[in-house]
Amino acid sequence: DFRRYPESNFCSTPIKIGSLFPIVVLLSLLSTLSESNQVGDGVTIIDATGKYVMPGGIDPHTHLAMEFMGTETIDDFFSGQAAALAGGTTMHIDFVIPVNGNLTAGFEAYVEKAKISAMDYGFHMAITKWDEAVSKDMEVMVKDKGINSFKFFMAYKGSLMINDDLLLEGFKKCKSLGALAMVHAENGDAVFEGQKRMIELGIMGPEGHALSRPPQLEGEATGRAIRLAGFVNTPLYVVHVMSIDAMEEVAKARKSGQKVIGEPVVSGLVLDDTVLWDSDFQTAAKFVMSPPIRAPGHGKALQAALSNGVLQLVGTDHCTFNSTQKSLGIDDFRKIPNGVNGLEERMHLVWDTMVVSGQISVTDFVRMTSTECARIFNIYPRKGAILVGSDADIIILNPNSSFEICSKSHHSRSDTNVYEGRKGKGKVEVTIAGGRVVWENDELKAVPGRGKYVKMRPFNYLFDGIEKADAEYLSSLRAPVIRRTMHVAA
Ligand code: URP
Ligand code: ZN
Ligand code: ZN
Repeated sequence: DFRRYPESNFCSTPIKIGSLFPIVVLLSLLSTLSESNQVGDGVTIIDATGKYVMPGGIDPHTHLAMEFMGTETIDDFFSGQAAALAGGTTMHIDFVIPVNGNLTAGFEAYVEKAKISAMDYGFHMAITKWDEAVSKDMEVMVKDKGINSFKFFMAYKGSLMINDDLLLEGFKKCKSLGALAMVHAENGDAVFEGQKRMIELGIMGPEGHALSRPPQLEGEATGRAIRLAGFVNTPLYVVHVMSIDAMEEVAKARKSGQKVIGEPVVSGLVLDDTVLWDSDFQTAAKFVMSPPIRAPGHGKALQAALSNGVLQLVGTDHCTFNSTQKSLGIDDFRKIPNGVNGLEERMHLVWDTMVVSGQISVTDFVRMTSTECARIFNIYPRKGAILVGSDADIIILNPNSSFEICSKSHHSRSDTNVYEGRKGKGKVEVTIAGGRVVWENDELKAVPGRGKYVKMRPFNYLFDGIEKADAEYLSSLRAPVIRRTMHVAA
């Protein structure tokens, strides 16, 4: 529904477009409109002839206003979301970081941070330690606070990292609550060793970051997390899949029928590490993120994995620092705050890289940037769809227009952009969030306080069949034990 009612519910007058989901060219809508609907006063009509009308993007992975590595991300809930809206993303899911391991305190802090939101958002929560209180708090988060996913960091030794015992406890707890377990999969102990190796070799620059945590450490942790999730029999979501090594673990697990979701991020799909070599500190430092941006070849392989269904949806891991903040690591790569931008660029880059090149269809594009995320986090069809009753988060993308990325004109507060200078085909010309036009003619009308918190219910489709599989497993265990017991008794 592309008509705009200034203050009323956008979806109040139904228009039959369900059958056109997920992609409709507005031209067909216009003819539907003229045949079956009256247009009243005060209604704005946007002509989208020859363009695509699709659900607003949903970014499953962002870090806004996050305290991290001795500083705080430069984008808060307003500036990050402004960037998002200008790039056709109308909802994101951010990671709540507990305060000294306390989930409730972390949640309350993020509720405060998010009050300036200009668009809808949801929360995942990170689990950084384990005790009875954390376990109890996870229940509160799922039952009362609208959180249905928890992220476990297998890296960042000494701060966020947790070991396998906690990972197992966390997976079990997630399963009992119907919440989705997520992992940052890198072997943190080995990364620590890799960093020592770099320091011993005198490699202190940003290139040391990538060299200290090679793909095999991501592959190892991904495989381990997948196997442990399989052992617990609970679904697993692997965030920021950055390497062939990790992707192949996801592929293998999915082929065997295990419920594993793999999320590549835009930086991993379209960038490579050549920028780290032979460049000055600032040029290289802005690309420092974890897992690192990989050698040429990984990105293409991840794109292929997306197009053949091995990986399911695209996030950004938007976690921005300006060049002053990146300079915290001028003498030592271990102190460079990890993270890159992407909220504003994701839709354009995925379109240009994957749709224009013919790797995926327009329908696939909608699924990977919006619908699949809504399904996984159990907010479909409120989000991720253009249907009567869904939220009016809608974009118009002109396939014949072009974009150019520039840190002078982007909407993030950072003074740098890892996609600086990139040009491509396809441009989001209009963004409608919550029924209001917030981006049109390159003009942004983001209003702080307008965004709503979207509560997410537990038990998504990935939990179907889990109980049955558990019952089968238990009976398979009991049978030989009963035989053995009888044998001993005889
Ligand atoms: O470098 C990154 N990815 N920074 C954000 C934190 C995380 O690990 O997702
Ligand atoms: Zn991470
Ligand atoms: Zn992240």
